[in-house]
Amino acid sequence: MAALVLAVCCAGSLAAGSKAERSPAFTREGELVRPADYREWVYVTSGLGMTYGSGQAPSTRPPLFDNVFVTREAYREFMRSGTWPEKTMLILELRRGEENVSINKGGRTQGAVTGLEAAVKDRKRFPEGGWGYFSFDRKEGLADRAAVLPRTASCYGCHQTHGAVDNTFVQFYPTLHEVAKRFGTVKPAPEPGPPPAHE
Ligand code: HEC
Repeated sequence: MAALVLAVCCAGSLAAGSKAERSPAFTREGELVRPADYREWVYVTSGLGMTYGSGQAPSTRPPLFDNVFVTREAYREFMRSGTWPEKTMLILELRRGEENVSINKGGRTQGAVTGLEAAVKDRKRFPEGGWGYFSFDRKEGLADRAAVLPRTASCYGCHQTHGAVDNTFVQFYPTLHEVAKRFGTVKPAPEPGPPPAHE
């Protein structure tokens, strides 16, 4: 197990260069290495039980939390310009919403991770659209690495059409939204459409 972790770590960092940087690490085969330290990145937001389809039946499952993190370098550049630089990586972490844990009698607290997804901006690697989307979710748990999802995956259309800044959902990221408005980088009219829920 330790050897496996080491192999993943080093394959990734070699491919990314030797700098101790937070840019995305890819294996030689072009798979994105799951970043072990994303919880040390900049925290962007949490959503609770987000669904998007107006005609959608209300879910009977307990709502999931989602937490968004971004690499520090990309965050700093966003603060300077209201846009995402090349090599931006964002992580979406999904967690179970728990009730009645410990002394809690109302509301929800966050439980186990149920999914981990990533978005990477890299025009060279992803010439069509400039962004690659990845999912580390597998039946047996989270994968250590993931190939880019095909352009036919739902991620691309929803993010490109409905994201307020570039491909990202800055309209839901309160502090970043203020910055983007100041720089005038919010897209003119994000379409109202009824996209389905984030699976
Ligand atoms: C129906 C629309 C929709 C689809 C399809 C979708 N997403 Fe998202 N995604 C969202 C929304 C809305 C958010 C904002 C979440 C929040 O505010 O907490 C988001 C946030 C994210 C983020 C955080 C950064 C950002 O872009 O704002 C990542 C990473 C992400 N999604 C990955 C994926 C991946 C990978 C897929 C495909 C497997 C996918 N998404 C499919 C709507 C969608």
